Amino acid sequence: MTVDSFAGKLAVVTGGGSGMGRELARQLAAQGCSVAACDLNAGAVAQTAAMARAAAPPGVRVTSHACDVAEEAQVLRFRDELLEQHSRGHVDLVFANAGIGGGGSFISDPREEWERTFAIDWWGVYHCARVFLPLLIESGDGVLVNTSSVNGFWASLGPGMPNTAYATAKFAVRGFTEALIEDLRVHAPHVRVAVVMPGHVGTDILVNSFRARGLPDPEHMSDAQIKEVIPRDAQAALIRAGALAEGASADELRQMLVRANTDFRDKAPVSAAQAATVILDGVRAGAWRILIGEDAKMIDAAVRAKPEASYDYTELFSGLTPGASSTGT
Ligand SMILES: NC(=O)c1ccc[n+]([C@@H]2O[C@H](COP(=O)([O-])OP(=O)(O)OC[C@H]3O[C@@H](n4cnc5c(N)ncnc54)[C@H](O)[C@@H]3O)[C@@H](O)[C@H]2O)c1
Repeated sequence: MTVDSFAGKLAVVTGGGSGMGRELARQLAAQGCSVAACDLNAGAVAQTAAMARAAAPPGVRVTSHACDVAEEAQVLRFRDELLEQHSRGHVDLVFANAGIGGGGSFISDPREEWERTFAIDWWGVYHCARVFLPLLIESGDGVLVNTSSVNGFWASLGPGMPNTAYATAKFAVRGFTEALIEDLRVHAPHVRVAVVMPGHVGTDILVNSFRARGLPDPEHMSDAQIKEVIPRDAQAALIRAGALAEGASADELRQMLVRANTDFRDKAPVSAAQAATVILDGVRAGAWRILIGEDAKMIDAAVRAKPEASYDYTELFSGLTPGASSTGT
């Protein structure tokens, strides 16, 4: 089932205040699609809406909403607000894109951090499906687009970088989305689903993840907060990797985090705008599995070719282009 055009449709975008969500909202609006975007950060998503409106053809309505997708009551309120503001009884597209990183170690990271990450990355997607699937069924040709990650089929970020909460949630998102394919064929054949699995995409996900956990931006973190976000074992791994000097001060750790965010955003192989274009092209073409970036494609191929070697990184990536194991979240 392909989509000829997004013009005249209504799309819901979660996590619309930054990165891929912001670019999805902008590109959809520019293509004549009305958008209801939500985010934890109300100011950022309002800014997205203003940008999207500025480049949209007449008749396109873009609204912004404050919402924590981890809370079902807030997603229900978001639904009620957008239906009223767009004067519609259904939606045509839902991009369950909001997500954060964190809870890398099940053993040493705080339980609250693990559960906050899982609540946003899994329950956020689940709540959006619960709340919006009936409205997609009401549409003649609804599409639900859930964002997973390469960590939805490969549960690591590479040597010394456990990623347990995120990978658990992203595997769940992929499994749920794939399971919905058959469910929809049986119960709502005019609706389809797609799962997005990005590799490294240049966004501010690092600092936004701190914010979603109630922390300030790195430059304003106290020494205690810095030590919480880069615990001793993470510091040791960074020292081993040559990314941090032995005995680094809290200030140096702070600067390292600021640099890490900037580098993650600015040195990525794929920009957020390019990623959004890949997602929209995939939806238009009727794809159910949308990989973003050469790194995602390489990891996908490697894990399929040698599943037993998935966590033996040298073996997994032997024979592939160097750098294939360096990925996003
Ligand atoms: N950037 C990458 O390399 C990468 C790789 C794979 C997957 N992803 C996934 O892509 C999606 C978009 O990420 P991004 O890189 O554009 O990040 P981003 O931080 O730039 O944008 C995510 C947005 O989601 C918002 N958000 C966070 N928690 C929320 C909540 N509870 N409710 C509502 N909004 C919330 C943030 O405030 C932010 O504006 C995420 O699901 C992420 O896990 C990103």
